[in-house]
Amino acid sequence: MTAQLIDGIALSKSIRAEIGVRAAALAAAGHRPGLAVILVGDDPASAVYVRNKVKACAEAGMHSVLEKHDAALGEAELLARIAALNADPAIHGILVQMPLPRHIDPQKVIAAISAAKDVDGFSVPSAGELASGLPGLRPCTPYGCMKLIESTGVALRGKHAVVIGRSNTVGKPMALLLLQAHATVTVCHSATPDLGRHTRQADVVVAAVGRRRTLTADMVRPGAIVIDVGINRDEAGRLCGDVDFSAVREVAGWITPVPGGVGPMTITMLLANTVQAAAAAAASSA
Ligand code: GUN
Repeated sequence: MTAQLIDGIALSKSIRAEIGVRAAALAAAGHRPGLAVILVGDDPASAVYVRNKVKACAEAGMHSVLEKHDAALGEAELLARIAALNADPAIHGILVQMPLPRHIDPQKVIAAISAAKDVDGFSVPSAGELASGLPGLRPCTPYGCMKLIESTGVALRGKHAVVIGRSNTVGKPMALLLLQAHATVTVCHSATPDLGRHTRQADVVVAAVGRRRTLTADMVRPGAIVIDVGINRDEAGRLCGDVDFSAVREVAGWITPVPGGVGPMTITMLLANTVQAAAAAAASSA
């Protein structure tokens, strides 16, 4: 069996078109969705990511501002910038690109962002809303993974999902989103012995480890949905995920490629969160 590819580029395109329609309606009512992206320092990968985020906003008809700061920016100054953006009615989402320089505490920065504008979904209030099953802003990467799984048409209720990875940004929120969709969820991590014993029982595997070839073909149940969150380089320097793609695609039922799977969905869900935050601001001002 050769797996069907789950095309994150095509899915992103259709979701971004819907987001554009919603953004235009909000703009017509005087609430054009706006995202502020803050970059501190000159990490080249981060510079590419923030440029892509701002470009995606423009393509969806949304307002965006990109603030670039020198790596020497003090923590207090950054917190003051966040306070100003919290108070700016043209801004509905605030994203501070991680990682930050070592002299800045990321937890303090995340906590300073108003919960209503936390479009990364990284804050303790956002995490609490997700864990409690309350509405709120969901972390973009796991949120995008849910959309990719939904696009297969396979209902998650009663299915066994295995998440590999327990980060606050992907693994933990992914597990909670799957649980909310009525899956039975197992979370595996670096201290899990015999990972394959778990993944072989899974209808859905989400790999978010950051190590290539973590999930090999012998670890996958025939017909399973495999979502690859990893972004790594292979021996030849080519982009690859956490999944041994060419072998696993012969066993799985559905699989996301790297690149072109989860990656484009992360920015798409950032736009979705910004529109959601703008809609909530518009409703509370009405
Ligand atoms: N750095 C890498 N990915 C992300 C992300 O999704 N959000 C933020 N704020 N920083 C990142």
